[in-house]
Amino acid sequence: MKVSRSPSFQMPVLSGASGGNIAESLAAILGMEHIQLESRRFPDGEAYVKVPSEDIESLRSEATVLISNTYPDSGIMQTVLLLGAINDVRRGDLANLKGEGEQRMDDVGPGVILAIPYYGYARQDKRFSPGEAVSARIIAGVLTECCDGIVILDLHAPEVLDGMNLPIEFVSSMPEIADRLRKNVGPDFILSPDKGAISRASEVAGLIGCEFSYLEKTRIDAHTIEHTPKDLDVSGKVVAIVDDMISTGGTICRASDALRRQGAKEVHAACTHGLFTGGALSRLANHVDGIHTTDSLPNPRANVSAAPALARGVGKLIE
Ligand code: R5P
Repeated sequence: MKVSRSPSFQMPVLSGASGGNIAESLAAILGMEHIQLESRRFPDGEAYVKVPSEDIESLRSEATVLISNTYPDSGIMQTVLLLGAINDVRRGDLANLKGEGEQRMDDVGPGVILAIPYYGYARQDKRFSPGEAVSARIIAGVLTECCDGIVILDLHAPEVLDGMNLPIEFVSSMPEIADRLRKNVGPDFILSPDKGAISRASEVAGLIGCEFSYLEKTRIDAHTIEHTPKDLDVSGKVVAIVDDMISTGGTICRASDALRRQGAKEVHAACTHGLFTGGALSRLANHVDGIHTTDSLPNPRANVSAAPALARGVGKLIE
């Protein structure tokens, strides 16, 4: 999708229940306006969203960007409802029972970009046995029906979305993470805790200009992983382990154990998505000297902004 930007109209960055902080920063970077859409819950827990009446005209500019996470499950429903409301406004379908305002306006055409800081269900990206849902593709199938372009930050395995029928920009916060580590840690060595994180971690090592290696990991179950022993030249060195996400913290703790056994002086953990499930932060506190993560998900350790990476993706979709 190539959407032209009208110089006379300030395009909005929208947010609902999630992503307000990122939307604010993204709007500042792109010189756009941030609009907070209404979002609340009915007593039974179902979501309610609304485009505020005073913002309807702004949403009908040539392009709009919605920041929304597909995590947790309620985030998927929230995202779909927000996109539905935005699309109705852009199609000019304003018919309402109270008969308030204009009921019909012109259709302003395509131009809805969904920017997803954290794409939930990314890790179920294969069918390991017959009958399993390939969740990452199913979620994408729903979203692609509701928008004109998608930006996704550090998706676990982007190839799972090959062949989708709309433009998708995959962006990464590794440049910002490298910057954070360079300024606050000064690592001598970057470690990828598994083969899947090699490209991200080696990018960080390249940007900092330090040594790099990786481990081979076998996942036994959601809470247990094993690393194949490997000699790492880390004695007396400051090491940062770089991954796309930290969930239970098991991967980082085991990698840190291997580094400490081999004489690492300091071990830091860095990732884009800090899920920190089930006591991960207290577990990590016993294994690493520092945690560096973006605000793609609200978490108490967020110290890197996800907005610059998302801005790069939005910029590519909008000319
Ligand atoms: C998996 O391959 C991911 O890149 C992460 O390494 C993994 O999700 C981290 O999970 P946990 O923190 O539970 O070990």
